Amino acid sequence: MKNIVWIKHASQLATLSQSGKGPRIKKAMNELSIIEDGSIWIENGLIKAVGTTEELEELFESRAHEAEITDATGHLVTPGLVDPHTHVAYGGSREKEFEMRLEGATYMEIMNAGGGIHSTTKMTREATEDELVAQSLRRLDSFLNHGVTTIEGKSGYGLNLETELKQLRVMKRLQNEHPIDLVPTFMGAHAVPVEYKGREEEYVTLVIDEMIPAVAKEQLAIFNDVFCEVGVFTPEQSRRILEAGKRYGLIPKIHADEIEPYEGAELAASVGAISAEHLLQASDEGIQAMAAAGTIACLLPATALYLREEAAEGRKMIDAGVPVAISTDCNPGSSPTTSMPLVMNLACISMRLTPAEALTAATYNAACAIKMEEITGSIEIGKQGDVVLWNCSNYQELQYLFGVNHVNSVWKNGIKVVG
Ligand code: NIG
Ligand code: FE
Repeated sequence: MKNIVWIKHASQLATLSQSGKGPRIKKAMNELSIIEDGSIWIENGLIKAVGTTEELEELFESRAHEAEITDATGHLVTPGLVDPHTHVAYGGSREKEFEMRLEGATYMEIMNAGGGIHSTTKMTREATEDELVAQSLRRLDSFLNHGVTTIEGKSGYGLNLETELKQLRVMKRLQNEHPIDLVPTFMGAHAVPVEYKGREEEYVTLVIDEMIPAVAKEQLAIFNDVFCEVGVFTPEQSRRILEAGKRYGLIPKIHADEIEPYEGAELAASVGAISAEHLLQASDEGIQAMAAAGTIACLLPATALYLREEAAEGRKMIDAGVPVAISTDCNPGSSPTTSMPLVMNLACISMRLTPAEALTAATYNAACAIKMEEITGSIEIGKQGDVVLWNCSNYQELQYLFGVNHVNSVWKNGIKVVG
């Protein structure tokens, strides 16, 4: 039997439809391609028609009885949200460190004392594959309930060959066991593990000579990410790790200029990274270099808030011609959230994106940051039927009434998974 969904009478259907390829910059980030009294016909998981309800009635009225019909009168409808930066497949949790930070300890102090990424690494090493799958599935459910239909997920809590591969295999299982599409990233260079303290170069060699080839051999990742930060990996080490990944077909991404300025944005542009993440401390030269190279800035305003830091200069980056995406950074330390709606709100409030730019950054540009723009991130013929119906009547309201989950219903590949 055919699976047909017909969503009709959306007060605003923000299709984000796109002429031309690649992430949107400047003015185009404000162009949502809105259809009033909008309608979508989804057949066997794929979008078959988009237009006004009148137009689609002309095309499909004779087949209306075959469809599961949703009357979206009074509602905003958008593409499923895309979260292009998560660390979703981890073991344990770190609420004690949250308290320590509130009492004055800094994020890096906790990490340098063996906590932070190291404590999650310990818990992830100790967990079985089944335990990690079970914990992560709950997080994926929460993403879906917040309107997110596609995410990226990073390893980086193994920091040895065995556990890095375990985390990536867990993500492969999640991809099969959950409706959300999960795009995997290898991040063996998330931290130097405690047992390599004082032997950092040896760990870099392990990542380059053993981990990257093993990940590529099993085809467990699409991207290769590095935490380029003072006290973690230097720009020079980061470059070597990213170049090594490129030789194995892994596309570079970089956690850049998060805590201290370190020329990470410049490195992202020069190494040909698809995106640079965080960028709280990015220099003007780095921003210019990213604009010239077309590097996507993946900005994480929930992380900045959670670490009580000033958010990245999103407004300035867009105005400089950098394509901007946004993400939760879902992880147990600096951003334990699965709420992309909150991240959109924060993109407006703390980075001065317009409501339209925030929606573009969380859909089409986010899909570009993980090379998924051909199949999701906008509502266009031939793309996956990934759609959210919101309890709002327009896209400004979605950003304006903040800190609330406005999701009414979610379809993933044309199947109703929420609502
Ligand atoms: O993107 N900055 C480095 N990595 C993560 C945090 C990881 C953690 O604290 O467990 C981030 O914020
Ligand atoms: Fe991160």
